[in-house]
Amino acid sequence: MTQYIEDSAVQAQLELCKKIEEKLKEIYGEEKPGFYIQTLGCQQNEADSERMAGLASLMGYVPVNDPEKARLIFINTCAIREHAETRALSFIGEYKHIKDKYPETIIGVGGCMVTQQHRADRIKHSYPYVSFTFDTGALHLLPELVWGAMNKKSRRFVISDKYEIAENIPIYREKPFKSWLSIMYGCNNFCSYCIVPYVRGRERSRTPDAILKEARELVALGAKDITLLGQNVNSYGKDTGGMDIAQLMREICKIEGDFRLRFMTSHPKDASDDLIAVMAEEEKVVPHFHLPVQSGSDKILKAMNRRYTAEKYMGIIERLKKSVPDVSITSDIIVGFPGETDEDFEMTLKMMEEVRYDMVFSFIYSPRVGTPAAAMENQIPHSVSSERMNRLLKLQDEISLERNERFVGKVLRVLTEDVSKNNSSMMTGKADAPRPIHFEGDSSMIGEYKNILITSADKYSLRGEIKE
Ligand code: SAH
Ligand code: SF4
Ligand code: F3S
Repeated sequence: MTQYIEDSAVQAQLELCKKIEEKLKEIYGEEKPGFYIQTLGCQQNEADSERMAGLASLMGYVPVNDPEKARLIFINTCAIREHAETRALSFIGEYKHIKDKYPETIIGVGGCMVTQQHRADRIKHSYPYVSFTFDTGALHLLPELVWGAMNKKSRRFVISDKYEIAENIPIYREKPFKSWLSIMYGCNNFCSYCIVPYVRGRERSRTPDAILKEARELVALGAKDITLLGQNVNSYGKDTGGMDIAQLMREICKIEGDFRLRFMTSHPKDASDDLIAVMAEEEKVVPHFHLPVQSGSDKILKAMNRRYTAEKYMGIIERLKKSVPDVSITSDIIVGFPGETDEDFEMTLKMMEEVRYDMVFSFIYSPRVGTPAAAMENQIPHSVSSERMNRLLKLQDEISLERNERFVGKVLRVLTEDVSKNNSSMMTGKADAPRPIHFEGDSSMIGEYKNILITSADKYSLRGEIKE
């Protein structure tokens, strides 16, 4: 059964925000101090950062784009691969000079990396200017942690081991038109390479009522693109015995408004025909399925504890393509898992050729402390993995280009998200898959749908022009 943090405990934290606000006025006068959040990792972390930002705003801080100008800095860390942890540590190192220059700055480190004891210990000992760390289940304690730091109480390194759900934490959404909606937290799957179940706890589903209420609020606030989030959304409701993901999505689609609905991530062992039917039948559901396969070899899938075979996976893909014509399919693939032979890797390439993914997010296997795969024999040398990776990327580039070219000459409904990075007269948006679409426009279009006639394609993106 899902455990909820008592609302009175959450309310007490929110009350504390008022005291912090008063104290900030004493220190900084009428000009509100800034807060800055550095977010690493997946959408779940982005959603958590929006709640950290919600709490920081309630405390009386205002968002700033430059950490130098912030007197409250959070680093929301990821532990999925070594690279993610190295980046987090380097950000923490970088912020030392800010603390030196402005000693009143409060620096807190949260998220998946510091939910591991050995990492929290390392921060404690090697980064004395960090005021506190907080695990993924302790986000609602931020007011008390900040209050403690403001009042020069001793440093805290919270690993609560309690993974409950805290409802009613304020959310600060930078782009209200594009919203994350967490429907569940945690993961029960224990894929043998993965740290997530250790740092996010067991699966906990929010109630349909809480989710539907939030979805209605989002639409009322102008959300045009809503992504239901969870590590394995296909098992939504299994812990509570309530609605499943397909039923939940049908209920959300009944909300009136011009928005589209997505979900991620799906585990192939639980991907149901009902979910495929929802995608086929509900107009609001985007025809994009992110279905990470990880490997095309049954031997490797077994060693990964994925609990499906390549054949079963291909069966889902076949049914999906039949029911949802022109669906965009994307995947995650790990290269160089312990024991992966050339033959195993060839099977992965063969599967990619058969499925013809729109996009693939591929990763070289990275051993994670405490996971079974890290202790497996036959770890693959980096030189072998990176050579395989290059072959995979080359193949996927060809497939992506072919998949993208199918849109040339078609009109797509694109949600405008941003001004292009290197050209201020170009806008960037998305249609179905997370593939950028560039077109001429101006920033007043951000958050609006535009019909875009696609004029050209390359392997990573599409280009087009507005067609009214
Ligand atoms: N819950 C999601 C994904 C979570 S992590 C799912 O099950 O699909 C995102 C991706 O990171 C995974 O799909 C996997 O491809 C990759 N990943 C996870 N652990 C990894 C590791 N130790 N080394 C390399 N890649 C990893
Ligand atoms: Fe990690 Fe597997 Fe859970 Fe995804 S399903 S978060 S890969 S353990
Ligand atoms: Fe990273 Fe944690 Fe997400 S480990 S990928 S931020 S769940």
